Amino acid sequence: MNSDELSKIIDTEQDTDQKFKHHVCVCVAAGCLSSHSDQVKSALEEEIKKQGLEHECQVKGVGCMGLCAAGPLASVRESGKLYQEVRPENAAEIVAGMNGQPVEPAEAPSAAQLPPEMPFFSRQVRIVLENSGTIDPNRIEDYLVAGGYQALAKALSERTPPEIIEEVYKSGLRGRGGAGYPTGLKWSTVSKARGNPKYVICNADEGDPGAFMDRSVLESDPHRVLEGMALAAFAVGASQGYVYVRAEYPLAIERLQNAIKQARRLRFLGNDVCGTTFSFNIDVRLGAGAFVCGEETALIASVEGGRGNPKPRPPYPAEAGLWGCPTLINNVETFASIAPIVRNSGTWYASIGTEKSKGTKVFALAGRVKNTGLIEVPMGMTLREIVFDIGGGIPDGKRLKAVQTGGPSGGCIPDQFLDMPVDYESLNKLGSIMGSGGMIVMDETSCMVDVAKYFMEFCMSESCGKCVPCRVGTAQMYDLLHKITEGRASLDDLQMLEDLCDLVKNTSLCGLGQSAPNPILSTLRYFREEYMDHICHHRCPAGVCKIKVPTEVTA
Ligand SMILES: Cc1cc2nc3c(=O)[nH]c(=O)nc-3n(C[C@H](O)[C@H](O)[C@H](O)COP(=O)(O)O)c2cc1C
Ligand code: SF4
Repeated sequence: MNSDELSKIIDTEQDTDQKFKHHVCVCVAAGCLSSHSDQVKSALEEEIKKQGLEHECQVKGVGCMGLCAAGPLASVRESGKLYQEVRPENAAEIVAGMNGQPVEPAEAPSAAQLPPEMPFFSRQVRIVLENSGTIDPNRIEDYLVAGGYQALAKALSERTPPEIIEEVYKSGLRGRGGAGYPTGLKWSTVSKARGNPKYVICNADEGDPGAFMDRSVLESDPHRVLEGMALAAFAVGASQGYVYVRAEYPLAIERLQNAIKQARRLRFLGNDVCGTTFSFNIDVRLGAGAFVCGEETALIASVEGGRGNPKPRPPYPAEAGLWGCPTLINNVETFASIAPIVRNSGTWYASIGTEKSKGTKVFALAGRVKNTGLIEVPMGMTLREIVFDIGGGIPDGKRLKAVQTGGPSGGCIPDQFLDMPVDYESLNKLGSIMGSGGMIVMDETSCMVDVAKYFMEFCMSESCGKCVPCRVGTAQMYDLLHKITEGRASLDDLQMLEDLCDLVKNTSLCGLGQSAPNPILSTLRYFREEYMDHICHHRCPAGVCKIKVPTEVTA
């Protein structure tokens, strides 16, 4: 597709769009769909037809708007009205409101409106999620109108691969899959690596419990990920890419496959991309939902058709990855950040965030917080701002106890650090990690030993079993935590738990085992008294654990 053809599509789309006086958007990402937003969309279409307004009002299915707790969500573009918990019965009222007609007394309770200026929306900075909730993820035309594929078309015709790498380098972007490795540096290593062919892999395995950032990006704006991958392939010299996505994400897979077909049709993928000599194809590979398959060497083994077991590194995938060839692996969010960086410059991106953690981060905000959902904030925003301004605080007048970041590899940050900025360095200092973006808010009803046990049970069941420290150590740590939560443990057991944390952390083969002790270490660091309460006083202060007080044996 050349720039004239692209302009023609955009002009036609804009003309069509302007023909409609009103545009109502209904979220059709998985969260809202699970509460039947598809029926809301059909009801709105029917109502518009019934009133003969089909040439005036357009109903659009869009991606995630973020405030998942209040779904199904529907918004009216012109008035800025945002409706929460919409039901099909609310269709007449929404259409009447759109048209300025007096609203008929509804049979069902009215759909409540959310204030558009609410901090949940106004405090966010949306780069990765800029199109989520506004474009139809099933239509490449929507992505094009929003400026999509312009970065790719321009890069291919006006810039060289080293210039693209330099731009990504300047942006300071660090991998969003968990480890925070500098993306520009990784791209540069792959581009310089000897060996042919080279591959680009998008890691969409997303196995952390409660995390849904990557799923949401794929469901809401799949072309953004494809464009990022194509730019990466051009920069490092690859002509084949794979998206490795877990099979439990059927909607994301469907939209991704649809997007790949559309991009091929308009020659943003395939041979002679954008009329140049650059060729790049993307195929989808499905994972079976094993957490360890998100680890890059295990992922590569799985794409090759083998069992998803990690391998020792080096060699790193950048030098010897898929089928022994240089391979660039990045996370969904990392790729989704690329097109805006190339479009607006690395310097622009680097102006957002902190000195060492640049740009924005998407979080899945969950747990004991009023506004649960998907948010994107500049790096360096404090936990207090995230939990209390964006999240709306803790429900039921309860007190915040801790925020868990980084999932099973992360840690729990107690309330005294609420004013710490959320960036890679600060979280590491506190004994947690940024991880891929899971953020679970806990109040006084959470038992921190129980929280550590939950994550350890997860690691124990997800351990691939290849190395002994992780296979046996996670099971032993789980047993000890179980003993503590039942009030049956001794101080010697606690000492053994701490020794095991050390051993498993330092001797496991891959990141799963190396980071599995983190939730225990951080809860011991900040909530040791809760462990002592269980052990010495046979008491769970939060009232969560079923204590089995040891009965005294009389001689
Ligand atoms: C047990 C384990 C699971 C992982 N799961 C994921 C995942 O689901 N998605 C992801 O992008 N990275 C995951 N990673 C990190 C990847 O190995 C790799 O570092 C990442 O995909 C690189 O992309 P980035 O540089 O863009 O972050 C996991 C690592 C470990 C140790
Ligand atoms: S650390 Fe755990 S998950 Fe990783 S290779 Fe060893 S057994 Fe497998």
